Amino acid sequence: MEEKPYVQRPTRVSGNYIMDQTGAELVHVIFSMKESVGCLAEALKVFKDYNVNLKKIESRSSKRFENDYEFLVECSSASIGLDRALEVLRGMTHYLKIISRDGGQDASVPWFPRKAKDLDRFANHILSYGSELDSDHPGFTDPVYRARRKYFADLAYNYKHCTPIPRVEYTEEEVKTWGVVFKELVKLFPTHACAEYNHIFPLMVENCGYREDNIPQLEDVSCFLRDCTGFTLRPTAGLLSSRDFLAGLAFRVFHTTQYIRHHSKPKYTPEPDICHELMGHAPLFADPAFARFSQEIGLASLGAPDEYIEKLATCYWFTVEFGLCKQAGQVKAFGAGLLSSYGELQYCLSDKPEIRAFDPYKTSVQAYPITEYQPVYYLAESFDDAQRKLREFAFSIPRPFMVHFNAYTHNIEIIDSKSQLEHLARDIENEMQLLVESMKKVNNLID
Ligand SMILES: [Fe+2]
Repeated sequence: MEEKPYVQRPTRVSGNYIMDQTGAELVHVIFSMKESVGCLAEALKVFKDYNVNLKKIESRSSKRFENDYEFLVECSSASIGLDRALEVLRGMTHYLKIISRDGGQDASVPWFPRKAKDLDRFANHILSYGSELDSDHPGFTDPVYRARRKYFADLAYNYKHCTPIPRVEYTEEEVKTWGVVFKELVKLFPTHACAEYNHIFPLMVENCGYREDNIPQLEDVSCFLRDCTGFTLRPTAGLLSSRDFLAGLAFRVFHTTQYIRHHSKPKYTPEPDICHELMGHAPLFADPAFARFSQEIGLASLGAPDEYIEKLATCYWFTVEFGLCKQAGQVKAFGAGLLSSYGELQYCLSDKPEIRAFDPYKTSVQAYPITEYQPVYYLAESFDDAQRKLREFAFSIPRPFMVHFNAYTHNIEIIDSKSQLEHLARDIENEMQLLVESMKKVNNLID
């Protein structure tokens, strides 16, 4: 076979719950008591009686109930008597809620990042470090290549949010490998890639140094994308779990590799590399509709149960990696696994594979091979239509809250209180006013 698709492989879906140093989950409980001398001592006695190990206690006047005091306690779930203690405490208080560390989340909800900075925590969640190659990897017996992979993995491992991505001086051999891939793919883009891709690609050439004899720097590409849609790239030292990888998209952050495939086989890579990331993925993150769609998958994944993470990862696979779309009556490719694979890009538009309409309810349960060309592809009417369908699907995910990305703070807000609803309504009201006034001005211009 000529080549395998260059894709982000599916990985374990399970996420990371907040753990203490012994590996036990941390449980956070808020309870409220009438303000009186000794009320805290009474409550703490319950924890003591049931041998619950408390790590932290905070108190404040309650905003929920007048003349009440509210306590937040952090304790280890390893405490055997915890359930019983909470049961007793519930009888003594008129408000008790079990939450996770970041607040607003039920303890049964998997932890998810609430701030873009929280993505730093994923750096050590990778499933294999960059230099750990399988025995059938083309670079397995090449000590120089392995050392180079370790160099890239270390760069990514030490990367911190809000800092520039380190620039890399690629070797002559690496640039040559990039050149082979670049030269072949650019021949196919005008006829096989979607219109959005063909609109953006020349801008990447102009602004980011996309050339046959130059591997663009992630930092330059990331800055360009930030200017277009707010998307940024973030180097990763290895494969992330699906949960962590999708969570990045919620913040418009795309986890990216920085190394290149082994020079002995420039048309083959068993894992994502910089050719796949920069030729396949990066250009479309500059498109506003595609950026919205990608973020929608990420937002849907936050705090979702494991089975839904798998479904969302499958939707991601059949769109961001292997998606097709309809344009002016023709089928075009927008998936990165296609746009970075000379062989599959031609195959996917031939009469060999089956093409079905994108429908998250059906697409999310479709089985797929990971080491050969896809027998089935899914066709999106447009990025906007795909986003609408995905959003509707996301509403079916059992989560006790809604999430909202605050584009000013880059924080994820959990919408579960009256005041948050009011803030959201006010923001929408402002936007609506802007829309109405802008329409009036545009109409005046047209008249
Ligand atoms: Fe990918």
